[in-house]
Amino acid sequence: MSAAAPDPRADPRHAPVLLDEVMAALAVRPGETHVDGTFGAGGYTRAMLAAGARVIAFDRDPDAIAEGKALADAANGALILVPERFSAMADVLHQQGVDAVDGVALDIGVSSMQLDRAERGFSFQADGPLDMRMDQAGPSAADFVNEADEAEIADVLATYGEEPRARRVARAIVAARPITRTAELAAVVRRALGYRPHDKKDPATRTFQAIRIHLNRELGELEDGLAAAERVLGAGGRLAVVSFHSLEDRIVKRFLKARGGAAPAGSRHRPAPEAGLPPSFEAVARPVRAGEAEVERNPRARSATLRAARRTAASPWPLTAVPVRKGFSS
Ligand SMILES: C[S@@+](CC[C@H](N)C(=O)[O-])C[C@H]1O[C@@H](n2cnc3c(N)ncnc32)[C@H](O)[C@@H]1O
Repeated sequence: MSAAAPDPRADPRHAPVLLDEVMAALAVRPGETHVDGTFGAGGYTRAMLAAGARVIAFDRDPDAIAEGKALADAANGALILVPERFSAMADVLHQQGVDAVDGVALDIGVSSMQLDRAERGFSFQADGPLDMRMDQAGPSAADFVNEADEAEIADVLATYGEEPRARRVARAIVAARPITRTAELAAVVRRALGYRPHDKKDPATRTFQAIRIHLNRELGELEDGLAAAERVLGAGGRLAVVSFHSLEDRIVKRFLKARGGAAPAGSRHRPAPEAGLPPSFEAVARPVRAGEAEVERNPRARSATLRAARRTAASPWPLTAVPVRKGFSS
């Protein structure tokens, strides 16, 4: 490995999940251009650089971009860091004069750096301000829990947290307002659901996940990011997406199933909107999960799923062709 790209596993802040599997799916060759849509602590980017690629890396979190500056400086022009959402990659690449790329990697969700810093407000394990904003801009989690009405809170908890007792939790939140700290919100949820410290899973987990996904519009970003990747990948380009829960994985699975040519046919009354479109992806791989050794080293890898495919030469599908997710608006 070159001096610009030390072993990504050596970064103590973040152990990249499914790194070997993602790199195998991307099959990076020297001189290629790859997009890392979720730079984080730069684990995937380092491996792409080490394989000889030019990398355009996105992160919506200004801290991740600032902390990546030393790596960009050391990469001598091979790494461009972009403080943007990955859903904007098609526009950004166009502005950079890049027509097509050879690979796109997305590692969805929060980083260990975000979770571990109490002041970012993502975690209920350490008390901090109720923030949860990846971009560090816009309304915070405190704004949401203190201003949304009970029905909206219940909808968010049910949809993005799959919380079976969403209405009860929403009622308790509204009754406890104002709530400004992560520990306060966690205590409200635990009281509402009857948590005992020796219970296996903290019931606050579902509420925190739901609010984070809603606030950061994470599922909408994933849908838009997949569509953007379809646009920027050249023929033969590789897509690798790592997701961490079933809501995300379902979106990736449906996207690749439809565009890989395996969409269910429409009925006689309602023809499939995508009927007749040639597949824009091929070689859609079976989902890959982390092996035991990785899960032992890095428990976060337990729920990770990698899906990968290769871009065909067909035109990208129209954005309206197949809604990959039904229902709620964010
Ligand atoms: C799981 S971490 C990525 C870790 C990275 N693969 C590594 O090896 O260090 C996810 C990162 O993606 C960023 N992120 C999440 N959604 C994003 C989006 N829609 N656009 C850009 N960055 C996003 C988060 O801010 C976070 O830093």
